[in-house]
Amino acid sequence: MTSVLRTDYQRSVADYWNNERDPVNLRLGDIDGLYHHHYGLGEYDPSVLEGPAATRDERIIAELHRLETAQADVLLDYLEPVAREDRLLDAGSGRGGTSFMANQRFGSFVDGVSISESQVAFANGQAMERGVSDRVRFHFRNMLDTGLESGSLHGIWTNETTMYVDLFELYQEFARLLRHGGRYVCITGCYNDVTGGRSKAVSRIDEHYTCNIHPRSEYFRALAANGLVPINVVDLTAQTMPYWELRAQSPVATGIEEPFLTAYREGSFHYLLIAADRI
Ligand SMILES: C[S@@+](CC[C@H](N)C(=O)[O-])C[C@H]1O[C@@H](n2cnc3c(N)ncnc32)[C@H](O)[C@@H]1O
Repeated sequence: MTSVLRTDYQRSVADYWNNERDPVNLRLGDIDGLYHHHYGLGEYDPSVLEGPAATRDERIIAELHRLETAQADVLLDYLEPVAREDRLLDAGSGRGGTSFMANQRFGSFVDGVSISESQVAFANGQAMERGVSDRVRFHFRNMLDTGLESGSLHGIWTNETTMYVDLFELYQEFARLLRHGGRYVCITGCYNDVTGGRSKAVSRIDEHYTCNIHPRSEYFRALAANGLVPINVVDLTAQTMPYWELRAQSPVATGIEEPFLTAYREGSFHYLLIAADRI
């Protein structure tokens, strides 16, 4: 295995996540110890915007967190069935929220990899606290070159991580890791080939996160080139918009809410789930 960070670009992404202390992630995670770095799904309860002003912020934060946890639940639905002895990979695992949910739900082994050493340390601390460190482990590794054993995995997911890497390289590694019939699930933002190139709003999102959002078509080209055959493709755009509308009114808004809402409303960007099987 080569060194974890191969390029200046990867070093800059790692720096971003090593230094990230954004309240939109930390205050939500503090609610129940599930720390997510992804967006939410589903309608929000409008009553959180009403009621006593003194507790309004707390109500909104709890509601955003509920929607982010609901997003991870949807992702895990597409991995089923998973047995207790199965091994799963959370590729780009952040602070580990989706990994813990997978272990809670399936009882299975989960390895998470991230190029942020501070995230890996944080998530391993959470695994200890939760008493699951024998089954849920986080590693400072590159998802393009995980060093895990070939054919050892029942399932892999990427929860908002594919915009940091070349998809052909990524799916080559996943094809190596998955056993025959193994499942891959992806939730991602991607831009719309139909409306043309990268819109201004999508470019602003790229700049904000130091990422490189791919066109929708690229996912299917890269999956097909690596023996990964889609079984479900779900456009989650309409289901994620309420989250952004609530977040824009929240005390933890980061300023990126308007570009997301613009990109979704103008149709230049989608929030997509893809489930595919290794053949
Ligand atoms: C938006 S966060 C998503 C985190 C997590 N999947 C979640 O849903 O909470 C993106 C993650 O991708 C990771 N990442 C980016 N490039 C990576 C790479 N080449 N290898 C491993 N992890 C990577 C970052 O370190 C960060 O943890």
